[in-house]
Amino acid sequence: MTSAVSPHANPPPQAAEDNKEAFGVYVHWPFCLSKCPYCDFNSHVRREPIDEARFVAAFERELAHRAAQTPGRLVASIFFGGGTPSLMQPASIGAILDAIGRRWTVAPNPEITLEANPTSVEAERFRGYRAAGVNRVSLGVQALNDADLKALGRAHTSAEAQAAVALAHSIFARVSFDLIYARPRQSVAQWQVELTRALAQASDHLSLYQLTVEPGTMFERLHAAGKLAMPGPDLGRDFWDATQAIMTGAGLPAYEVSNHARPGAESRHNLIYWRYGEYVGVGPGAHGRIITPQGARGTAKVVRRAQATEPHPEMWLTVVEADGFGLVEDEALSTEAQGDEFLLMGLRLSEGIDPARFQALTGKRFEVSRVADLIAHGMVEYTREGRIRVTSEGFPVLDAVVADLAA
Ligand SMILES: C[S@@+](CC[C@H](N)C(=O)[O-])C[C@H]1O[C@@H](n2cnc3c(N)ncnc32)[C@H](O)[C@@H]1O
Ligand code: SF4
Repeated sequence: MTSAVSPHANPPPQAAEDNKEAFGVYVHWPFCLSKCPYCDFNSHVRREPIDEARFVAAFERELAHRAAQTPGRLVASIFFGGGTPSLMQPASIGAILDAIGRRWTVAPNPEITLEANPTSVEAERFRGYRAAGVNRVSLGVQALNDADLKALGRAHTSAEAQAAVALAHSIFARVSFDLIYARPRQSVAQWQVELTRALAQASDHLSLYQLTVEPGTMFERLHAAGKLAMPGPDLGRDFWDATQAIMTGAGLPAYEVSNHARPGAESRHNLIYWRYGEYVGVGPGAHGRIITPQGARGTAKVVRRAQATEPHPEMWLTVVEADGFGLVEDEALSTEAQGDEFLLMGLRLSEGIDPARFQALTGKRFEVSRVADLIAHGMVEYTREGRIRVTSEGFPVLDAVVADLAA
């Protein structure tokens, strides 16, 4: 990719301050070949071919809009997520990367990740993505046996997925893949064997998600009708414990509740979110958090803004073509909301959060009373450095822990 000099030669002082932090760009491709029954991501299936060139032109316009809002940032990470961005042509990925390079300064070794579905058709495009500048792929393998892949509604076989992982290793410096565990009828013993097999094919990063029944999905309807047997909390806990034991033993401990890596191989992009950093999101249903000055020159304060775009793909396209951007939300967050978001994101990480950062964001001291109960129940602990983190007892029930904290 090209790494152009930023056209914004004179960033305001607060932007220069922010430049010390990693800045990320997220690009959402909202289309899939079919809808998986467990998935509540913003993904859509179309019978007619998609006018990819039109979408790419709209991505370029929306990138220009966000770049004007975030002058002087140094892009450390770019992430193509979905949906299924591996349905895009490599030339489209290249055009979007070039547009990012023209609008911002890109750091010398940016992390450029593409989420890919591991079908053989998509694997054929891997070399093209590499040539376009992608240097990390995250593959949605989900399971290593065909019966479970079918039950998850996946379009690939286990053999196809493993071939895609092997091909990815031969092309990209960094490869990760996703598995879903605690599936209906899966036993912990079966999962231990499967995860051990997966580790033999993994390099230094794996994302392991416990199956969740999400609102609005086919799995939710099946579950409500009593046709999807999900593990209860005790079995869920056994799955969790087995996963942590195997991954820690293999040298890829959890650095986030569902993400495991050898130290140093963490997803830099996702760390920006979890460390409550700054990023823009373009494309249908993309989110961003940006820091901008607000108010008159001289008296301007710095505010963090929550941004979200129109999720419906064709609607987003129409709006961007008319207005140059597809934002349906662009609001300054109150200091209280920032404190809550910071906790919700940071406590997902095994490194936890720094209470001093909480104070810097909210202007209020982090009240120990807020966590006293959770500490007493062994769910949260202080580290020797004074950080606050969720314990191994708290992580399996993280949602309840953060809900308690944000209340
Ligand atoms: C944006 S999705 C993946 C994108 C890609 N299209 C794919 O399917 O491989 C990211 C990951 O979230 C996980 N995921 C999605 N829905 C889930 C659910 N209901 N429960 C557990 N994991 C889920 C899957 O492992 C998936 O690979
Ligand atoms: S899991 Fe992936 S392929 Fe399946 S519908 Fe969701 S985004 Fe699309």
